Amino acid sequence: MENMSDNMKKDLISILDIQDRIKELLRIAGEIKKKYKNGEPFTPLEGKSLGMIFEKPSTRTRISFEVGTTQLGGHALYLSPKDLQLGRGETIADTAKVLSRYVDGIMYRAFKHEMMRELADNATVPVINGLDDVEHPCQIMADLLTIREKKGTFEDQHLVYVGDGNNVLHSLLLGGAAVGMDVTACTPEGYEADQKIFQKAVEIGKETGAQISQEHKPEDAVKGATIIYTDVWISMGDEEEKERRLKAFEGYEVNDALVSLASDEVIVMHCLPAHRGMEISASVMDGPNSVVFDQAENRLHAQKAIMAEMMS
Ligand code: CP
Ligand code: NVA
Repeated sequence: MENMSDNMKKDLISILDIQDRIKELLRIAGEIKKKYKNGEPFTPLEGKSLGMIFEKPSTRTRISFEVGTTQLGGHALYLSPKDLQLGRGETIADTAKVLSRYVDGIMYRAFKHEMMRELADNATVPVINGLDDVEHPCQIMADLLTIREKKGTFEDQHLVYVGDGNNVLHSLLLGGAAVGMDVTACTPEGYEADQKIFQKAVEIGKETGAQISQEHKPEDAVKGATIIYTDVWISMGDEEEKERRLKAFEGYEVNDALVSLASDEVIVMHCLPAHRGMEISASVMDGPNSVVFDQAENRLHAQKAIMAEMMS
C-alpha cells in the first residue's frame, strides 16, 4: 500500500495510492464528464495505448476502459491470459516488461493481489488495478463521484455497507475514510473486512474526521444511514463456497424493510453485477432510492480522469 509519491512511476493498485488526490481527481472527473456531455473533445491520450489484461470476466470495467480510452483519443487492447503466452507459462514479470515496450499504461484484473504487485513492480508504465481479491479502486472512484453528485459533500454522509467483507468493501473503507465520510461495515461474523485494512481506515479516519466502524446486525447498522451499499455475496473466485455463503448471509438482503430504517433521503448503491433476490431485492434495485446505473456510468468518467492523469 505505498503512496503514489513513493514511486517514480504512478500506479493505482490501492485507493491509498491516490489517498490525498481523490477529491482533486473527482473534480477533474466532473469536468471531463461535463465536456463529454457537451460534445467537447478532450483527447490527452492521442497516439497512446492501454493494454487491458482480464483474468476474470467483466462488463463495466472492460467496456468503460475501452470506450474511455477511445474518447480520450487513445486505443485500448483487450488481452485475455488464454490468448497471451501468460496462459502457456510466460511469467507475469516478463509480460509486464514486454508490454511496457509497447503500451503507455496497463489495466489489470487479477485473481491475486500478489500478481497485481508483481506486474506493477516489473512494468515501467503506469498500472491500474481493475479489481483483484483485495481492492477495486476504480469502482470506488466512480462511487465517490456518484455520492458527490447526489449528496454534494462527504463529511455529513454515513455509508453503511451490508454484505461480504470483500475487495469492494476494502476500497470503500479506505476511500471513504480518506474523503472524511463515515463508513460502517456490516458483515456476518466470519465475513468481516481484512482487519489490517479496517484498522488502516480507522487511522485515516482519525485524521479526516471519518467514523469507521463494524457491525453484524443490518437492522441496527442502517439506522440513519444516508447511503446503503451492497455487493455480491459470492465474488469471482469464491464460487465453491456458494452453499456456505448463502446460509451465512441470510438476513443480509437489502430490501424495502431494511431501507425503511435508514434516512428518508437514503440512496442505495451496488457496484454490479447484482443478484436480485439475494443481496438486493428487485424492488430496491429498481426502486426510487437506487443509483446503481449512475454508478455504472460514472466508471467511464472517473476512469477517464485517472487515465488522463496517469498516462498523459
Ligand atoms: N463493477 C464491476 O467492476 O463490474 P464488472 O465486473 O462488470 O467489470
Ligand atoms: N466483489 C465482486 C465485485 C465484482 C465487480 C467480485 O470480486 O466478484
